[in-house]
Amino acid sequence: MSEPLDPTALDLAAFPASFTWGTATSAYQIEGAVAEDGRAPSIWDTFAHTPGAIDNGDHGDTACDHYHRWPEDIALMKELGTDTYRFSVAWPRVVPAGDGPVNTAGLDFYDRLVDALLDAGITPSVTLYHWDLPQALQDRGGWTVRDTAEHLAAYASAVGERLGDRVTHWATLNEPLCSAWIGHLEGRMAPGLTDLTAAVRASYHLLLGHGLATAALRAAAPGARIGLVTNHSTITPVSTRPEDVAAARRADGHTNRWWLDPVYGRGFPTDMRELYGVELPEKAGDMATIAAPLDWHGLNYYFPVTVADDPTGPVPHTSEVRLPDVPRTGMDWQIDAGGLEAFLLRLTEDYGVRRLYVTENGSAFPDTPGPDGEVHDPDRARYLEQHLAACARALRKGAPLAGYYAWSLLDNFEWAYGYDKRFGLVHVDYATQRRTVKTSGRRYADIIRTHRTHTA
Ligand code: IFM
Repeated sequence: MSEPLDPTALDLAAFPASFTWGTATSAYQIEGAVAEDGRAPSIWDTFAHTPGAIDNGDHGDTACDHYHRWPEDIALMKELGTDTYRFSVAWPRVVPAGDGPVNTAGLDFYDRLVDALLDAGITPSVTLYHWDLPQALQDRGGWTVRDTAEHLAAYASAVGERLGDRVTHWATLNEPLCSAWIGHLEGRMAPGLTDLTAAVRASYHLLLGHGLATAALRAAAPGARIGLVTNHSTITPVSTRPEDVAAARRADGHTNRWWLDPVYGRGFPTDMRELYGVELPEKAGDMATIAAPLDWHGLNYYFPVTVADDPTGPVPHTSEVRLPDVPRTGMDWQIDAGGLEAFLLRLTEDYGVRRLYVTENGSAFPDTPGPDGEVHDPDRARYLEQHLAACARALRKGAPLAGYYAWSLLDNFEWAYGYDKRFGLVHVDYATQRRTVKTSGRRYADIIRTHRTHTA
């Protein structure tokens, strides 16, 4: 049992009564069943089976077997007392070839999931694209070609037509930065390229796809409330040297402005266009498509970044400085909840966002069940509380924050790190698929219950 929660310590009164509490996952990280019911391979199946790409040779073939165990996972959400669940639909289940025929059996899975969530009183929040591009599209150029953006919109229509009578909360993309920069420039994620031109073109087509999918969803599901989910870090120069200050400006352009400025009608930042030196594949009307008005914005926040000038390093010619003596998670990411508060306020004040969600926030630590069978993870519980306190401060300062999704419901396939990095509020024993709610999960449940009691 966790200690009783003091609602004033977290300033739970700052959270409006309508605030929604959720957990988040993504398809490839939890579903498994990669060859069932007509699903075709995605770029992550290919990448995960590339020797040396993933720690321990792990892959998502089985993952958390959520494809078969989803009723148990919904029961876990009920146990936590969450109001909402953010999950992604796997494009290669729904349109296995990337374009062309829709696979009804693939959509059936999400249909059942949505119905069961609604029956359990949990609001589904659907993300269309969380990195699992159908391999067939990658074979035709993937995100480096414009057609892929158009195929995303057609896939969005198919999902919207099927689920739009019950799902209102939609996101087009999750973290396009990772798809473009980590997948095409750094090579640490699928499709594993290290090519600046490909990366810049991919970034452009991802955002274009977001805009086209937004329009397609609005047509297919008129009640849809549509947002974009982007990941950000606050960036601080390591010193006041002008070179480091300029480096921080470049890092901010690469990590933050490149993804927000065009979506909020400012176009792609000129300084970054010049730095990349890659011609954008722009056609008339694209910028208006990319800047289509949204109903909400989703912020994924994990850590802040400190940078130094690094003229000979890769674009954006900055290097990350590892600060000594600061708290860190098992990912070696610095813990600083102040960055979450700062970014919520930046989206509010600088970009004029009128409805915000924290769509992901969480921490990995190497949890193991104790002799009592319980999983005690005080570090994760502390991380959660610190970041919720940051949300409360941002709310007090005027951020229109409507909900929070903890990453993640379950331990899952953490991309290139495989299964060693555990982000779940619920522990998964991958050998038996046994789920155990961790202490942090119970803490989250206490927070949710206490908030409800005090705002009822
Ligand atoms: O697991 C990922 C998720 O897929 C996207 N956002 C960050 C999480 C933790 O790395």
